[in-house]
Amino acid sequence: MDLLLLLTSALLCSCGPVNTESVFQIASVTLSIEPRAAVRRNTNVTLRCQASVISLAQLNREYTLYKDNSVIYNKNTSSKEDFLYHLPEARVSNNGRYKCMVRIMGQEMTSKSEKLTVTGMSPPILHADKSRTTEGEGVTVRCLAPGETGSFFFYFYDNSSEIHDEHRNTNQAEIKLPLSDVGAHMIHCIYKVFIMSESVTSDESNTVIVTVEELSIKPFLEISPVNNIYEGDNLTIKCSILGFNQSHKGMNLLLNQGTNLLSVGNATAAIEYNMMVEATAPTLSFDCRLTVKNLIKVDTKTISVTELFSVPQLIMSPPEVFQMKPMTLICKSQHVALERVNKEDLTYSLDPAEHFLTPNGAGIFSGRALKNEFNYTCIAEAKGIRKRSGTLTITPKVPVSVPSIRVADWPILGESFRIFCQSSKGSGPITYSFWKGKTQMGTPIIKSFGQPAYISVVINDVKEINLFTCKANNGGEEEQQSAALDTAVIEPITNPILTVIPDPVEGNDLYLICSVQGTPPVTFRWFRHDKETPLKVTTSLSNNSNYQITGLSKEYSGMYYCEADNRANFKVQSDLVDVEVRMALWKKALIGGVLLLVASLLIMVSCVLYYKHRRGKRETAAELSVKPASPKSDESLTVNLTHDTEVYNAATDAVSFYDDKEGRVTNGTRGSVASLPADISNRSSYSIPATV
Ligand SMILES: *[C@@H]1O[C@H](CO)[C@@H](O)[C@H](O)[C@H]1NC(C)=O
Ligand SMILES: *[C@@H]1O[C@H](CO)[C@@H](O)[C@H](O)[C@H]1NC(C)=O
Ligand SMILES: *[C@@H]1O[C@H](CO)[C@@H](O)[C@H](O)[C@H]1NC(C)=O
Repeated sequence: MDLLLLLTSALLCSCGPVNTESVFQIASVTLSIEPRAAVRRNTNVTLRCQASVISLAQLNREYTLYKDNSVIYNKNTSSKEDFLYHLPEARVSNNGRYKCMVRIMGQEMTSKSEKLTVTGMSPPILHADKSRTTEGEGVTVRCLAPGETGSFFFYFYDNSSEIHDEHRNTNQAEIKLPLSDVGAHMIHCIYKVFIMSESVTSDESNTVIVTVEELSIKPFLEISPVNNIYEGDNLTIKCSILGFNQSHKGMNLLLNQGTNLLSVGNATAAIEYNMMVEATAPTLSFDCRLTVKNLIKVDTKTISVTELFSVPQLIMSPPEVFQMKPMTLICKSQHVALERVNKEDLTYSLDPAEHFLTPNGAGIFSGRALKNEFNYTCIAEAKGIRKRSGTLTITPKVPVSVPSIRVADWPILGESFRIFCQSSKGSGPITYSFWKGKTQMGTPIIKSFGQPAYISVVINDVKEINLFTCKANNGGEEEQQSAALDTAVIEPITNPILTVIPDPVEGNDLYLICSVQGTPPVTFRWFRHDKETPLKVTTSLSNNSNYQITGLSKEYSGMYYCEADNRANFKVQSDLVDVEVRMALWKKALIGGVLLLVASLLIMVSCVLYYKHRRGKRETAAELSVKPASPKSDESLTVNLTHDTEVYNAATDAVSFYDDKEGRVTNGTRGSVASLPADISNRSSYSIPATV
């Protein structure tokens, strides 16, 4: 039915004549395992690949067989028969997934994969080349996996512990086992076959017993004397071979003390070694080593050694010393074996020899300390044995110098600041204490050399600053005291006052003087109440400063104030001062004059008219006069000082004027000059006596 469809469609689709030979289709491909997928070892297994192909003609087929995705076989055939692949006497190494692919003229189809599982492995067989051997000789063993194939790992066991493993691609492994322990060794092996990432393990092999016999010869170590050994004693040490016979070749003897080789010998020449004992440790260990082929046999003996005297210790008394001050060095061995050495026989010396110190009894050396660091050692000696102490480094202390007292920044009245104290010389640790008058402040502070000590204080009166002192001490005889603290103290700015002089009159100049209390330099700022930016900023070394306005006009009227601060960084502001610019005097006078003139004219005109009117009736006449008023001689005239404005008293000819450059008021008659007190600027008015 399929074929019919295929042919029909082929005929319909092509317009030319059809080559029916090239029309085919692989209908199915299956792989089967015979007799079954899970078999015992030794079963003859066949893999059958069956391809069902729809075609008219006999087509060439290519079979490819895969095991675990790797090609293991490839064949071309024109036969329609199933393709068979034999695995005779299957082994576990045949385990895996198989599949088969068929390709015909570029068309291909692959079967589903089938898993073959073979169980059972042949037990390994172990063989040893001998069953008796001697120490150091070893034995050759072979492990065989009969009839097995694949990739192997062989494992060898001695008395149940694994001692060796070996990888092979053949089914046997031969190795040499160096059995070292005397006695019976039960040896067996197993193997593993590797299939992909897995492995299958065999049963245990037969067990072979190999007996290792002790070598008849051995080394022998003899030391004399054995007991009561003191350093300086002589020892005789013998290292020889026991049970030696001529059949043993290539032997070697070594005598060692720890890892120190003392002497060598051989089969015919035993070792005899003499030495004087040094008490480098309480016990000394020696060994006599015999080497035969691969075997090393050792005889070890340990002796105890008593010191004649212990390593001396060098100490200084007292433990600290100042430059050039007296000191004593003491050299002493703590333990002395009085049963062997007399106290008098034990001598002590310094190295370098004495060095400005004089011996002063056994192991005692006195003198003065040097200025610089110095290293001493001492040597104890008796019966030809010398022992040197460790190095004693003496660093004489430097006395502390007079400390200096200072502040880090400007102290500000009422605010906390730090006072530092430091000695420029003197070995640390240095103990510093701070004093205010006769009172100690806080607890003493301990610092190393080069580090200043400090405390934080607050003062409320400038005079307090000079009460502070500090003291330094580094354990020497005297304590050193600093001078009194001497530094400026900054008083914060207070009490700002804005003074305006002279009277603000149009056209004149005006001074706005800002004065304060506090420590200069002071930064002053002047403001007009309705403006944010200062009119002027200046820093002054005195406690007042001024801002000058030249050529006053009505627009300068307004509220003014000033601000001030100094290093205490606390800004203060004055009260507001109202400045109202008044009209100039000459303007007032001019207006007054004009009015007077107009009034006079009016009177004159009316008088003339009246006179003409009355002419005919009466012939009488009258005089009209105007008289200026004059002040009395002792009257005092008070004049508000106005900037750069002359104050002129017409009756007396007296004049007052303010000179803006000099900052003074000048007083006198026209053309004369008089000097005035400097504090005139603080005043707002001035009085001039009117004289005739
Ligand atoms: C397996 O095949 C071999 C020949 O290839 C034959 O000698 C042997 O007897 C067969 N074994 C079994 C169990 O049929
Ligand atoms: C003292 O010995 C020490 C080492 O123990 C060494 O560093 C130092 O320089 C020596 N001092 C002098 C003055 O020789
Ligand atoms: C301004 O300073 C002087 C000293 O420079 C001082 O005598 C005077 O009292 C100070 N005035 C004010 C207002 O602090």
